[in-house]
Amino acid sequence: MLVLAIETSCDETAAAVVRDGRIMLSNVIASQIDVHSKYGGVVPEIASRKHIEAIGAVILQALDDAGTTLDGIEGIAVTRGPGLVGSLLVGLSAAKAVAFGRRLPFVGVNHLEGHVAAIFLSDRRPSFPFAALVVSGGHTTIYRVEDFTRFTILGQTRDDAAGEAFDKAAKLLDIGYPGGVVIDKMAKQGDRSAYTFPRAMRDSLEFSFSGLKTALLNFVKQKGMPAAGEMPGVVASFQEAVVDVLVEKTLRAAGENGLKQVVVCGGVAANSRLRTRFQEDARERGIEVLIPPPILCTDNAAMIAVVGDYRLSRGLRDSYDLNAVSRWPLSERQ
Ligand code: KG4
Ligand code: ZN
Repeated sequence: MLVLAIETSCDETAAAVVRDGRIMLSNVIASQIDVHSKYGGVVPEIASRKHIEAIGAVILQALDDAGTTLDGIEGIAVTRGPGLVGSLLVGLSAAKAVAFGRRLPFVGVNHLEGHVAAIFLSDRRPSFPFAALVVSGGHTTIYRVEDFTRFTILGQTRDDAAGEAFDKAAKLLDIGYPGGVVIDKMAKQGDRSAYTFPRAMRDSLEFSFSGLKTALLNFVKQKGMPAAGEMPGVVASFQEAVVDVLVEKTLRAAGENGLKQVVVCGGVAANSRLRTRFQEDARERGIEVLIPPPILCTDNAAMIAVVGDYRLSRGLRDSYDLNAVSRWPLSERQ
């Protein structure tokens, strides 16, 4: 089945065409980073407006890159949540309009389910059940994934998400936006053992990043803003504290649950140090770690097409009164 997917849950306007849930024919992502960077974070109202401006051209580009037109498309998939409702509604309305105009079946997809499903676009696909760490700007959760639609939470954050921790740290240190990307790059020049930052709740599978954020704030209050020469060391040490707990707890959760494969996904899975550390530490424990390429870790529509294909090819359909949802935990069906 040839599926056109649309994703507008946050600040990326994205559309993709995917065949049979595994062959990516196009993957267009229009980023709004430039507009939001002067505010140091995503401004929901501006995000919605930018989605409206971009959505038409992004869909046409996705069809064009895939060498097809709407005549070739057999189903429409769209992110329904979780995310910013104003942003979600732009994609959802566009999807409904195309589906209605072309009499095509359409389904709403959970964004988090999409992040996990991105791995099925790779050559090496996991077999169920496996463990998955979804680590993004809004989520840091370890799941046991039974099949495409059944997820059990093994551990999750009590406060901030890991991506949020990166973004807030970069804002505090005034080193640029988006924080995760800036920190990843700068940390490569720094000594990751230069400073010691806390690793919270070592014995639990739960995460907490708010103490780490406070530790960085106190560090700056006591020593003053790091000089340019010290900044890479601070950033690398901070990143190492985040990476340490993500890798350690996820691999432990897999081990304790007898799972031999771990999928790491979501925007923070694009982090180069996290990717390296996962591969190194997993090898020692006989666990296989699968991580999508960075472009499929951050928000994209190809991952939404994978879930959409699964649902559409099983005859599932949504009606035109489907609404956007800001909160939609993976362990709940809606
Ligand atoms: O999945 P995503 O694109 O959007 C959400 O669903 O949240 O994730 C965005 C998050 C942001 O917090 C961003 O700073 C982080 O992912 N991120 C990174 C990297 N690239 C994006 N964090 C660390 N290293 C990166 N290379
Ligand atoms: Zn995301």
